[in-house]
Amino acid sequence: MELNLVQRLLLIGIFFSGVWTQETSGPMSLACLGNLLRITLSAEYFEDKYLSLFVIDQSGTAWEVDEAMAARCGYAVTYTTWRSIEFRASALSCHSHLEKGVFTVTIQIKASPTPDMSNATTHLKSASCHYGPWSPRELVCESNYMEVSVRREVPQTIKDFIQDESEDWTLVFPEAKAEEASIWQIVFHQPEEKRALLVSNAWSAGYGLNATDSRVLLRVPYTAAQIQLVEDQGITFSVLRSSIFYKHQWVILMLDTAVACPVDGVDYTNKTITWTVPKYIPPLSAGVTGFKDVLVEAGVDLRKLSAKEMASRKYVLLNELKVITMKIPIGAEGGCYKTSVSNGQLGVKYTINLFLEHQWEDNKWRRTKHTIIKEIETLFEQTEVAITNNLNLSVRLMNVTVGTFLPDVELVNLTIEGIAMAIPEAVQHGYLIHRTRYANGSKAYVMEVPLDAPSVRKEYMREDMRAYTLNVTLTFITYPSRETFVIPVIVLSAVKDAVLPSARGFCDGRNLHLIITHGNVDQNWLPFISDWHLTQEVAQKYNYILRDNGTHLAISVPFLSPHVSYEGFHTSAIKASFYLTLKDAITLAQRRDFSVSCIFSPSELIECLPNGTVIITAIKLVGGEDLDTALLVLRDRQCKPSLVTEKTATFKFNVNTCGTSRKFNSTTMTYENEVLYFRPGNDTPIYQLKFLCSYAVKQNADVQYESKKNPPPTIKPGFGCLALSLKIFKEKSYSEPYQESEYPVVKYLSEALYFEVELLQPKDQRLDLNLDDCWATNSQSQDSLPQWHILRHGCENNKDSYKAVFHQVNYSLRVKFPQHLKRFEVRMFSFVQDTSLLQEQLYFHCSVVICNTKQQPLDIFCPRRCNPGKHRFGHSAHPHGQVSSGPVLVRKKHNKER
Ligand SMILES: *[C@@H]1O[C@H](CO)[C@@H](O)[C@H](O)[C@H]1NC(C)=O
Ligand SMILES: *[C@@H]1O[C@H](CO)[C@@H](O)[C@H](O)[C@H]1NC(C)=O
Ligand SMILES: *[C@@H]1O[C@H](CO)[C@@H](O)[C@H](O)[C@H]1NC(C)=O
Ligand SMILES: *[C@@H]1O[C@H](CO)[C@@H](O)[C@H](O)[C@H]1NC(C)=O
Ligand SMILES: *[C@@H]1O[C@H](CO)[C@@H](O)[C@H](O)[C@H]1NC(C)=O
Ligand SMILES: *[C@@H]1O[C@H](CO)[C@@H](O)[C@H](O)[C@H]1NC(C)=O
Ligand SMILES: *[C@@H]1O[C@H](CO)[C@@H](O)[C@H](O)[C@H]1NC(C)=O
Ligand SMILES: *[C@@H]1O[C@H](CO)[C@@H](O)[C@H](O)[C@H]1NC(C)=O
Ligand SMILES: *[C@@H]1O[C@H](CO)[C@@H](O)[C@H](O)[C@H]1NC(C)=O
Repeated sequence: MELNLVQRLLLIGIFFSGVWTQETSGPMSLACLGNLLRITLSAEYFEDKYLSLFVIDQSGTAWEVDEAMAARCGYAVTYTTWRSIEFRASALSCHSHLEKGVFTVTIQIKASPTPDMSNATTHLKSASCHYGPWSPRELVCESNYMEVSVRREVPQTIKDFIQDESEDWTLVFPEAKAEEASIWQIVFHQPEEKRALLVSNAWSAGYGLNATDSRVLLRVPYTAAQIQLVEDQGITFSVLRSSIFYKHQWVILMLDTAVACPVDGVDYTNKTITWTVPKYIPPLSAGVTGFKDVLVEAGVDLRKLSAKEMASRKYVLLNELKVITMKIPIGAEGGCYKTSVSNGQLGVKYTINLFLEHQWEDNKWRRTKHTIIKEIETLFEQTEVAITNNLNLSVRLMNVTVGTFLPDVELVNLTIEGIAMAIPEAVQHGYLIHRTRYANGSKAYVMEVPLDAPSVRKEYMREDMRAYTLNVTLTFITYPSRETFVIPVIVLSAVKDAVLPSARGFCDGRNLHLIITHGNVDQNWLPFISDWHLTQEVAQKYNYILRDNGTHLAISVPFLSPHVSYEGFHTSAIKASFYLTLKDAITLAQRRDFSVSCIFSPSELIECLPNGTVIITAIKLVGGEDLDTALLVLRDRQCKPSLVTEKTATFKFNVNTCGTSRKFNSTTMTYENEVLYFRPGNDTPIYQLKFLCSYAVKQNADVQYESKKNPPPTIKPGFGCLALSLKIFKEKSYSEPYQESEYPVVKYLSEALYFEVELLQPKDQRLDLNLDDCWATNSQSQDSLPQWHILRHGCENNKDSYKAVFHQVNYSLRVKFPQHLKRFEVRMFSFVQDTSLLQEQLYFHCSVVICNTKQQPLDIFCPRRCNPGKHRFGHSAHPHGQVSSGPVLVRKKHNKER
């Protein structure tokens, strides 16, 4: 992994600690690898620290290592596998000290717990490596720079020619300063032009130039402007052709400092890395002949491998005529996998840090040593993360393992219900997270989450099963690349702990009640009446009561409601049922059905008003779905309902109308009609509901409400009252009765009393009122003695000297039904016996019999008029009643007597 040096190196992630096993003692370890020196910083030691890196020169000055400085001065900083940091320095690096085949580099590391580097601890490391002998030309291809050093040789002819004159060179060429080790100028050979730079300018441009007594050095970052890309045998090289001019005493000499490094040549087919490097590359072999390989060696992490070691790792190193080829099976020892993220997907790349050393001889340079460091990284390969759930029911815990991961991955935070939080914060949400490590260094994360954590979604599944869903997103970070990726963890556990809602139903006289006790699964279930969501609004509209107090849902529905269904029950009752369904709020799946059924006495369905109005509600029963209540009629098919709902039809009519029939007995008058339903064109009703209204003299009668076919119930009949009145009028014209306030009425013996008996209720024109007996008493009680008879069985009392006189009753504004009235006149003399006044105060009483009118002439039992022979029948077969008048005071006044 190539990571050009960063000024601040954040080594380790957020909060895990002590996890890397590395066999190092102390914070740094050293290795010498040819003309390169390597110091490895232990990740373990510098964990959780912010680092900065310095190189100390011989004078003790610290030079901070940054990207440009590293490339110019011969340093490379890379993160290696398992997160350690490798610092490499060239033997010819800017600040190394070369002496007697030993080069020494001193580095200083500052480690601070904070990014501002305050309170940093400082570590110093001085490392020395032997190196030599030097080849006339040495080329190094590092990860961030190319380096060439060539022997500085003064040809013998020139040596002979030069005399040791102490001429002040700098006076002639002020640019060539003595401090710059006698290098004067560098000339870049570019295709179009040659460009010359003075040493100081080359430094500014990022080049590294130096010269010792014996060698001249050029270091070029891969980013340098003068670099060309040149292809040879299909492989691209990064090439810099240049010549360096330097002075030797007063002679200017020139050196070829061409350098070339391959930048590609890697192929990944057949699960193998194939790295191909052409030999004798043209820029390095211009005008050269007589090539001869001296050595081809290769290794990993700058360690040379023997042929045996390579074979055991299944590496192949081929040295062919024109190319050197290395083949490394992907995954082989020496490299490692690292975590990689591509488009948010987790994957791995295999990386291996190879190097190749090629030494050859030719007739120009004699010997060249070319060292190429190649950090190879395979292509992204997506990987899957296993998520396993071990439900621990005894402690009601979900135990979820997520992994495995490579060691370069850390869990940084997690998102629960859309809220991102660090791991310690998650504890507050009940999430306990810890890491397990495996022997091979990989790891997994174990999350323990209580089933009852608020963020664990609970859903009803079926029967007694509840589904617990853990939905958490884990955010990971990779080191050192600091790529983040997320792993959504959605784990479902089925647990048998569902408590379903239960219900209790009951009725009062008017309503059906359903009380649902909530369970632990119905938080999001909604009450439905078939397909209707029963909302508060709907409830209000229909006068239902819907109340939820958190533990119970109570619903009350009136008996006569559109959502109540009715069935006949035995013969005298109706079964009313109300069905409620709980449905899932989201899927609308049916979850639970509840119903309450009650047997209703249907007496509320019929009302018999005193004035002869009957109100009857017919109910559509279950099974009569195709019955249109609007088409229900009474016996007289003109009589249609006055109020229709989907299930009910209400008729309001008078007993005189709509084909109502009557029946009599001595106490009760019974009206009968039926609610009928006909199919068009068919005169046989398919629905017939018979109902009765009884008007009882004594209000204890019980009348049936019967129906035929569908439905069969009967309902308790309605009641009415038989109302009679006995009034006294002032004149024969019967226009003005005595008002209540005028009683007692005062009458003189010569005067007459005008009586009128009336059937006030029911107002049925088919009824006849007939008088039976009329008599007077001296007290209010009808039965008190003595009694003076005025009429007997409807006939005048023949014993009376002043017989009662009947008056015809005719239709008038006041008299709608003459047959409901009887009038007769009585002279007050009737109450004089032996010229003495019998009594001062009198009450008058009449008993009446209600009969059919002449429309039913066969009703022979009714004593229609004075009919002495038949009178007894009337009494038993027809309703009869008694009426009384208020008191009448009788006065003697002789002058008025006639
Ligand atoms: C050049 O190399 C010498 C010897 O390694 C070293 O002391 C000196 O600091 C170097 N100069 C520059 C400018 O790098
Ligand atoms: C600096 O480090 C020392 C010892 O490690 C510690 O006692 C001190 O509190 C630290 N100071 C700051 C400002 O962090
Ligand atoms: C890959 O392997 C197959 C069979 O092992 C071989 O035929 C093929 O040439 C190989 N391809 C490369 C590019 O090596
Ligand atoms: C969770 O699972 C891990 C292994 O997968 C086990 O070591 C641990 O004891 C389990 N925890 C509980 C509470 O069951
Ligand atoms: C998980 O949670 C996220 C965010 O809260 C949500 O978008 C997603 O739909 C949830 N997934 C499931 C399966 O519940
Ligand atoms: C979670 O981690 C990501 C990546 O490191 C970071 O961007 C984010 O701010 C973190 N959120 C919290 C709440 O820690
Ligand atoms: C809720 O209503 C039910 C029945 O209507 C009653 O038994 C229960 O005590 C009530 N609970 C609360 C908390 O009011
Ligand atoms: C009978 O009485 C009821 C209730 O008092 C009334 O609504 C209705 O109009 C009356 N009918 C007649 C015909 O007077
Ligand atoms: C009159 O008829 C009613 C209803 O049919 C009945 O309940 C009652 O017993 C009858 N009365 C007599 C005296 O028959």
